[in-house]
Amino acid sequence: MTDKKAFKPCDLVIFGALGDLSRRKLLVSLYRLENANLIEPDTRIIGVDRHVHDNSQFIEIAHKSLQEFLNDALDEAVWQRFSARLAYLQIDLTQLDQYKQLKTVTDGKTRVLVNYFAVSPFLFKNICLGLHQSGILTHESRMVMEKPIGHNLKSSQEINDEVAKVFSEKQVFRIDHYLGKETVLNLLALRFANSIFTTNWNHNTIDHIQITVAEEVGIEGRWDYFDKTGQLRDMVQNHLLQILTFIAMEPPVNLEAESIHNEKIKVLKALRPITLNNVEEKTVRGQYTAGYLKGKSVLGYLEEEGANTESTTESFVALCVDIDNWRWAGVPFYLRTGKAMLGKRTEIVVYFKQLPHNIFKDSFRDLPPNKLIIHLQPNEGVEIEMLNKIPGIDEHIKLKKTKLDLSFSETFKQSRIFGGYEKLVLEAMRGNPTLFLSREEIEQAWTWIDSIQNAWQHLNAAPKTYPAGTWGPVASIALIARDGRAWEE
Ligand code: BG6
Repeated sequence: MTDKKAFKPCDLVIFGALGDLSRRKLLVSLYRLENANLIEPDTRIIGVDRHVHDNSQFIEIAHKSLQEFLNDALDEAVWQRFSARLAYLQIDLTQLDQYKQLKTVTDGKTRVLVNYFAVSPFLFKNICLGLHQSGILTHESRMVMEKPIGHNLKSSQEINDEVAKVFSEKQVFRIDHYLGKETVLNLLALRFANSIFTTNWNHNTIDHIQITVAEEVGIEGRWDYFDKTGQLRDMVQNHLLQILTFIAMEPPVNLEAESIHNEKIKVLKALRPITLNNVEEKTVRGQYTAGYLKGKSVLGYLEEEGANTESTTESFVALCVDIDNWRWAGVPFYLRTGKAMLGKRTEIVVYFKQLPHNIFKDSFRDLPPNKLIIHLQPNEGVEIEMLNKIPGIDEHIKLKKTKLDLSFSETFKQSRIFGGYEKLVLEAMRGNPTLFLSREEIEQAWTWIDSIQNAWQHLNAAPKTYPAGTWGPVASIALIARDGRAWEE
């Protein structure tokens, strides 16, 4: 990990500073980091966009964005400190000669240039060229980008190739905001700092693992983008596969970025391909119809604003994933994720194997398995479900399912849980690549996803429908029930 003393102040340039990502996430995260005194005093934040003209207009937009998206009251003293760091340049990102303006506000001698590409990937090539021609890049400069890094392997390679013409792999920080979530990181601690798990984390003791990333929200105003993407590419290619690699990887030799990346890549390479031969057995695609959520009626996917009523894009995916290696042979990973579901819930459930013999038949005909439940959001925490004797002096021992419950907010009362973007923006400014994705990881993930996408295309089957406000199509229940198992409800 990076030595704290080594952190240099930055010129953090946000390309697309007036866009959605910048206003909703980046400015809010940076303000929160300011509030926590985590930004180096000499760091500057430079917004670049083409819509407004000067600093004061940008500062006003930043102020409004914080009021809208912060969820807390703005602290005047923190805002004063924060706004003093803000500068703005009006640049049309397609015009390469305009990038030289950056020279006037950045200082490569005393600060590291961190370029956040908060724009559509079709502009990446221009930004790279513009930066290169402006002459402000040094070997210390970094670029930060996030999904969509392509919509398949080929387009992802094209983006990575363009970026690689100007930035070396070490200078590129690819974000998956799930890797900034406290509970995803805690998987490393849970697995590699606790001997009860390190010795039991394999096919000998584990029956299967479930990963659920359910969202209540539907598509809400971004139908066009989403319809071209679908839930497999929007959520599984990145967030779910990242969670899966953290659960499944071998112990890295240390916490250095390269050690972790290497182990994650090995998992991605061991994923059994899903092709036309097994796609119907291993996957379910769903699309929500009108329904009810928390007592309110919700429109179906095809009825949302801007919808093409013929669309067959999936808003839900369930998968049964096999990892072909020694540790996980015979242990299926069931993944499901969808929009407009019954609740916002991201969790991992590890089902341990049932015991071979039951001496407590008075309580259970079959002893239920132990479960480790990791809540990623909301209510971050870890639970272990186990059997205990019900206290009493009855003739027979009676058992009950009970929970060892570790809620993060209860256990770590004084520490605030930082959001994914806060953590990652800070790490990018610090230059610590551990929580970012390597090119190989992204491309390996695309290789596996492309095979599913191609098989689906070939089948050309309509998605299974599910009413908004439920846990997905009936077929997703059948997917896991075929193996004699059930989703955690
Ligand atoms: C984004 C997806 O990457 O993650 C969105 O594009 C999704 O469709 C979002 O809603 C979910 O993130 P979180 O942090 O709210 O679980």
